[in-house]
Amino acid sequence: MKNKKYTQISSYLEFLDKKKIAKYITTTHKKLIQNIIILKRVTSTNTYLANLSKTKAKNIICLAESQSAGKGRLGRKWISPYARNIYLSILWNFKQKPNDLIGLNIAIATAIASALKAYGIKKNITLKWPNDVLWKKRKLAGVLIELGSKFNQTQAIIGVGLNVHMPIKLAKQIAQPWCDIAQIIKTKPRRNKLVGLLLNHLLDTIIAFQTKGLKSFLKKWKKLDIAYGKKVVLTTTQQQKITGIDCGIDERGFLLLKVGGKIQTFAAGEINIDNIPADIMIAKSCWLL
Ligand code: BTN
Repeated sequence: MKNKKYTQISSYLEFLDKKKIAKYITTTHKKLIQNIIILKRVTSTNTYLANLSKTKAKNIICLAESQSAGKGRLGRKWISPYARNIYLSILWNFKQKPNDLIGLNIAIATAIASALKAYGIKKNITLKWPNDVLWKKRKLAGVLIELGSKFNQTQAIIGVGLNVHMPIKLAKQIAQPWCDIAQIIKTKPRRNKLVGLLLNHLLDTIIAFQTKGLKSFLKKWKKLDIAYGKKVVLTTTQQQKITGIDCGIDERGFLLLKVGGKIQTFAAGEINIDNIPADIMIAKSCWLL
């Protein structure tokens, strides 16, 4: 019985593999990457690249099978069990000043949506400011961008976490409605394919952002923006709660919130949409868990 279970688990999981990932990355995109590092365990792929960024490294991708201190936005933990999800970070040097990169997280969220579409998830993907990727209103992926400066350039570490097959027991620690690829597509999740597709779209986005900034992503954001025109509660970085009507984002990626008839702009924070219940947790029937 023990052996049978083991065989089932190992045939279900797909470990990250450079050669398999490379099959899905186009030649043009391969030329942009200096190196792909795959680690079994790491504290955080973002932290790993932050340490590398002190060297001459640039255009480096780091992936890990697990993170012991995965970082989410606003100081949260990112649950990162072994060989289940995707934890990916990109170290990239931008000529723009840190202030010009404020909207990069918005652009990166649209890139993840495009990659998911290319993987076959054609419906129900939406985005929630500033960079949550949702499926049927539940969080599927998140983005954490950390900026630093070096030789007149801005070094960005772009971290992407995508839930692929989250163990139910661990998911209890996730404080918001969540989902994973396994709930959306019933066939075996293919993490290497997902990574390859993500990289193609993320790199396209980085290149376009370098030359044109956020402008070219605004239309796509608006199309996928789940909160546009809805009543939302904004939690600011100082934990202040502000209720208003979501009026989308400006050309910098700031949130436009109509409060008492006036539009106010916010650079950071988190929004909750009034009509999304906080406790949606769909039950997964899976022998693996
Ligand atoms: C969020 O809170 O939505 C952002 C989550 C970002 C998680 C990813 S996983 C890869 C990278 N390494 C980290 O420690 N965090 C990001």
